[in-house]
Amino acid sequence: MKIYDTAALYGQNLSDEQQSKLMEFYRVLLEEYDIATIHDCTIGAGGTTIPLAKLGYKVSGSDISENLLERTKINFNESGYEIELFNSDLRNLDTVLREPVDCIISTGNSLPHVTNEGVRDFVKNASKCLNPRGLLFIDIRNWDQLLDEKPLIKTRDPIVMTAEEHIGLHQIFVWHDDQSVEFAFATIKDENGKHKETKMQFAPMYYPLKRSTYERILMDHGYDLINYYDLDSIWIHPSQQRPKSGYFEADFHQIAWYGILAQKKYIISACSHNNRNVDGDDFNAERHPIGITFHFDQIDNATPSEPKYQYTFILKNTSLETYNLQFEDDLKYSYDFILEDESKTILTTTGTNVWNKVKNENSFLLEKEEELVLTKGSIGDIMPSGKYLVDFTLYLLNEQLSMKFDFEVE
Ligand SMILES: C[S@@+](CC[C@H](N)C(=O)[O-])C[C@H]1O[C@@H](n2cnc3c(N)ncnc32)[C@H](O)[C@@H]1O
Repeated sequence: MKIYDTAALYGQNLSDEQQSKLMEFYRVLLEEYDIATIHDCTIGAGGTTIPLAKLGYKVSGSDISENLLERTKINFNESGYEIELFNSDLRNLDTVLREPVDCIISTGNSLPHVTNEGVRDFVKNASKCLNPRGLLFIDIRNWDQLLDEKPLIKTRDPIVMTAEEHIGLHQIFVWHDDQSVEFAFATIKDENGKHKETKMQFAPMYYPLKRSTYERILMDHGYDLINYYDLDSIWIHPSQQRPKSGYFEADFHQIAWYGILAQKKYIISACSHNNRNVDGDDFNAERHPIGITFHFDQIDNATPSEPKYQYTFILKNTSLETYNLQFEDDLKYSYDFILEDESKTILTTTGTNVWNKVKNENSFLLEKEEELVLTKGSIGDIMPSGKYLVDFTLYLLNEQLSMKFDFEVE
């Protein structure tokens, strides 16, 4: 029997003490942020999410398991709360979560159910569902520690010990060559000194997620790492906790379960790596629902005194719905063409109007897949030949999109 089909996750088995600790943890975690809406994308049966509803946040949830979602609904209703739920794979959250939220969470060591590449897809797509400066919180087991130690068995015995009853829990690890791991839980129960039963449950596959891997993924997708939290006092039995100093970094290898809070940056780098643009190839970057294209081509038959190349920056609503593109202010974009070999800026431009629209307009309603020519220009007569790095920024309301790429002038 798989662990998620069992009553253990349905009822969540959270003691009153754990529940109040969790509620206090979330209260302190979130109090300094101006957030109202939270989406839990691996909500399970919802027991660990109810504390957020109790704190007054508007909570929604999703999970790959329909059974668990049905249970979440009951658990929320029984606690006096309504919740909107979606059946979704966490990697495709953007396909179900249409209204952006202020915070997305994935807890209970759920992210490592998908491969590290899957986690990358999750972060990329979850970003589309977060408001500017939105928060992303996850909690996971310390996979760095588990990989170092590769335990074969971990034991919590007793988890219950009374005059009549004794229960011990043994977690058995099956490590595969590709580092993935499966767990089996053996619960052994004695009654009045006699063995009563041994129950085996299996967890789905896990793909270890190292802290540095997750941090890299966050940074690649324009997040600031805000804080780390030692969660052993919530999830690990006191007898299993290792001695610590109270400083996360110093304690990291002693911590069994931790949380990471990240925040979507105000400035988003659409693409920071060089993508050579030669022979009229377009350079494209996308930050849903906006696509940016740099189109560059040669002007045929130009005389020596005429420009040899022309370029266009085009914005596109890549979504299938109408999108209101809003700029922060009059400043719409800026770009520098930097001659790479000499590290010299040859052209600096800031734009205050959109090329084919009314001057001083700051809001543009774009139909689905509609394009907007942001600006265009021609070069050649003023540009020495060589490799150019383009540093481009788009100044949107609440958000700046920046991208860097290069092209070549012959
Ligand atoms: C360990 S449980 C944690 C549930 C809950 N967050 C908690 O703390 O109790 C892992 C959850 O992740 C869900 N899950 C696993 N793979 C998933 C995926 N690819 N997309 C969405 N949910 C997934 C499972 O169905 C399960 O509800």
